[in-house]
Amino acid sequence: MLTLGIETSCDETAAAVLDGRTTVRSSVVSSQFIHANYGGVVPELAARAHARLIVPVVRNALAAAACRPADLGCVCATHAPGLMGALLVGLPFAKALAWSLEIPFVGVNHLEGHVFALRLSHPDLEPPFLAAVLSGGHTELLEVHDWCDYSELGSTMDDAVGEAFDKVAKLLGLGYPGGAALEELARSGRPAIRFPAPLQDGAHRDSLDFSFSGLKTAVLYHLHDHPNANRADVACSFQDAAIEAVNRRLVQAVERRRLGIVGISGGVAANDALRRRLARSADEFGFRLVVPPLDLCTDNAAMIAAVGAERLARFGPSPLDLAARARLPIGAPGV
Ligand code: KG4
Ligand code: ZN
Repeated sequence: MLTLGIETSCDETAAAVLDGRTTVRSSVVSSQFIHANYGGVVPELAARAHARLIVPVVRNALAAAACRPADLGCVCATHAPGLMGALLVGLPFAKALAWSLEIPFVGVNHLEGHVFALRLSHPDLEPPFLAAVLSGGHTELLEVHDWCDYSELGSTMDDAVGEAFDKVAKLLGLGYPGGAALEELARSGRPAIRFPAPLQDGAHRDSLDFSFSGLKTAVLYHLHDHPNANRADVACSFQDAAIEAVNRRLVQAVERRRLGIVGISGGVAANDALRRRLARSADEFGFRLVVPPLDLCTDNAAMIAAVGAERLARFGPSPLDLAARARLPIGAPGV
C-alpha cells in the first residue's frame, strides 16, 4: 500500500510517499528560509508559506514516486503538536484529499514521527528501545515498548536542546537556526570554560528531565563579563556542557530501564560531536546506538507516513473531524 505523508507543523513544508512500512518512494522537504531574517520562526509567515507550498510539494512528492493520487491507499498528516496556523494547512489538506479519494485518513503526532524516523533508517530495529527526540522544539526521552506504545521517561523543563543551541548561536552572532553554525565554530575552539552542568545537584540528580535555560544564561553572563572572550572557546564549552547533559541522561535511562538500544533523532542528532560522545558511551555501557541520516533526523514527511501506515493497520483511520492541537503528549488516547 502507498501512503502519502504530509508535515506542516513548523517551518518545513513536506510530503512523502511510503511503500509498505519502511520503503520511502519519495520525500520532498521545502524549508522556509524567510524566518532567518527574524531570528526565529514567525507563525503567521510559516502558515502563509505552507499555504503557498503545500500543493507544489505534494505534487513533487507524487511525481518523484511515479504515482498518481488514485494509487494512494491512505493519506496522513501531522495534527499535533506544532504551530496552530501551520498545522491548519497540512491537516485539512490531507483530510480533503483522503475524503475525495475515498481512502482512509490518519492524524499523526509529530513526536511519534521522530521515533519512526529510526525505523525508516534501520528497518531491522525492533522495540524495546530508548528513543531521544532532540530538536529545536522538543527534548524527550521515550521508552518504546512497542511501535505506537511509549512511556515518557523525561523531557525538558524549559528550553529544548536545539533551542539552547539556537539562542547561544544568536548570542555569538551566528544566524538562525544556529545549531550547525555553532558546531562549526566549536571545531576551532577548546572547552576552556566550565559552564554549570544542568540538573545534576540534590533532588534532580536522579531525574531524567532536562534543563537548558540555566546553561544559556551562564553563557550570556560569561559574554557580558568577558566581552573579548574567544567565541570559538565559548561555543566549544557550551556544546560540551549540552552534550554532557544529554549523554548523562541517556546513560542513566538505559541503565535504569535495562535497555540495549538507544535511538536519537531530531535536528540536534545531526551534531557530530554528540554522535561521537554517544558512540563512546555505547561502547562503554554496551548498548547499540541508532542514528538516522541527516535528512531523516530533521523534519520530514516520510516519518509521518511511517507512523500513519502503522497506526492504520493497528487502530484504523482517524475521524475526519480530528482537531489540530498545539500541544499533545505522545501516546495520548485516540491519537
Ligand atoms: O528537528 P528539527 O529540524 O526541527 C524541529 O525543531 O522540529 O531541528 C532543528 C534544530 C534547530 O534548533 C537547529 O539549530 C538544530 O536542530 N541543529 C543542530 C545541528 N543541526 C541542526 N544543533 C546542534 N548541532 C547541529 N549540527
Ligand atoms: Zn521535529
